[in-house]
Amino acid sequence: MSQPQPGAPDVLEKLVSLAKQRGFFFGSSEIYGGINALYDYGPLGARMRRNVRNLWWRAMVERRDDVEPIETSIIMNPQVWVASGHVDTFTDPLVDCQGTCRKRWRADHVADERRARGKPEDAPGCPECGGPLTDARQFNLMFRTHLGPVADDAAQVYLRPETAQGMFVDFAVVVQAMRRRLPFGIAQQGKAFRNEISPSNSIFRTREFEQMEMEFFCKPGTDMEWHRYWCDERMRWWTEDCGVRGSRLRLRAHEADELSHYSTATSDVEYLFPWGWGELEGVADRTDFDLRAHSKHSGRDLSYFDTETNERYLPYVIEPAAGLDRAFLTMLLDAWDEEEVRGEKRTVLRLHPDVAPWEVAVLPLSKKAQLTDVAHPLAARLRARFRTEYDETQSIGRRYRRQDEIGTPLAVTVDFDSLEDNAVTIRERDGMTQVRVPIEGLEDACAEQLAACRAASLERSRR
Ligand code: GAP
Repeated sequence: MSQPQPGAPDVLEKLVSLAKQRGFFFGSSEIYGGINALYDYGPLGARMRRNVRNLWWRAMVERRDDVEPIETSIIMNPQVWVASGHVDTFTDPLVDCQGTCRKRWRADHVADERRARGKPEDAPGCPECGGPLTDARQFNLMFRTHLGPVADDAAQVYLRPETAQGMFVDFAVVVQAMRRRLPFGIAQQGKAFRNEISPSNSIFRTREFEQMEMEFFCKPGTDMEWHRYWCDERMRWWTEDCGVRGSRLRLRAHEADELSHYSTATSDVEYLFPWGWGELEGVADRTDFDLRAHSKHSGRDLSYFDTETNERYLPYVIEPAAGLDRAFLTMLLDAWDEEEVRGEKRTVLRLHPDVAPWEVAVLPLSKKAQLTDVAHPLAARLRARFRTEYDETQSIGRRYRRQDEIGTPLAVTVDFDSLEDNAVTIRERDGMTQVRVPIEGLEDACAEQLAACRAASLERSRR
């Protein structure tokens, strides 16, 4: 079978432009010139991110009886990060340009940066100006701040670089409060912060991002089996639940020299981005590394008493850890399509209906009160069941084009005939097919059409 090819390199550029124009995402605090590698999510981005978060939550928490949710603080006792190894080892190699541009680079990204600028990977010196580079030194990626009114070393704390540690330090409380037996998981979604040396590719690598992580605690010896289970389950989620095309996804096992200090096995879910394969999620066997480290540093016994075998041990942990921002970018890129329709270019986001910002758009043919008087209450009715937008500005053709560009699966058009026949037209995004349906049964007709869109999306994800 032939390998899938990365998408056209200019797709990211086009998407970033559309994302700003339509309100998906754009640089943070732009009126002040922006700030490097920090982004804001606009009205459509915020809606779509919530949908992705909810899909993860549904799959990882709500539809299971073996996972408990928690929400832990972003700033934790700094000893957490000493115990976890982040203070000593959460570093990337950094080199400085001593030429004209004075830029800083991640040493292991220098070859890629040269390639991105059209230079040979082994060209000498700085990727930007060719100036000499310093030797690599280790740079800790954690953001530091001070807690309380005195900014001395004793008050130094960190913004969490991952949400995972909250699940480890609260393990014993959750076992006790929820009377949990192994195997079971603890999950949370939330912001994480890393002072990345070379943020890149828009929201792919940023300095503030959101993670969706779950720590699955199991009996030592069963961990490999659970690792396989979670790799399969997470691949299923990306394709079936989110509609990402399976042919552009792969599961890649880490080589021994790539593994983090805490892991004996990790597989990454990767997507074929326009710039090549990139990580979306890691599924790691973290063994008992974290519970052991926190037991030792805190002096609290975090072992588990197995009443079936009368043994006490530290559970092993399988961790599926995904990034929301990367998921969001992937779903937009994967959905991106351009085609020619009747001599005109149509840009369409073929988003899964559960991911798209809106499910239905209600569009009266004109702004005339005769039509808007019908369309407004119709939109209100639909809103009770579906994520519904109402739009009466511009020509109907332009409004269809806008809905295609933001990935709305269905558009309901109220026209002058509607006043006579009490029916409206439902236009479906992907095939642009139109059906006339009675206003009375509109909710059920939309539900049926959305079910067909979900089935089509599932079909597409298998390609
Ligand atoms: N607890 C394990 C952990 O944090 P990770 O591979 O460093 O593992 C998990 O991060 C996921 O978080 C990544 O697969 C990616 O989706 C997301 N992520 C990590 N760093 C990121 C960054 N700088 N910007 C955006 N997303 C990031």
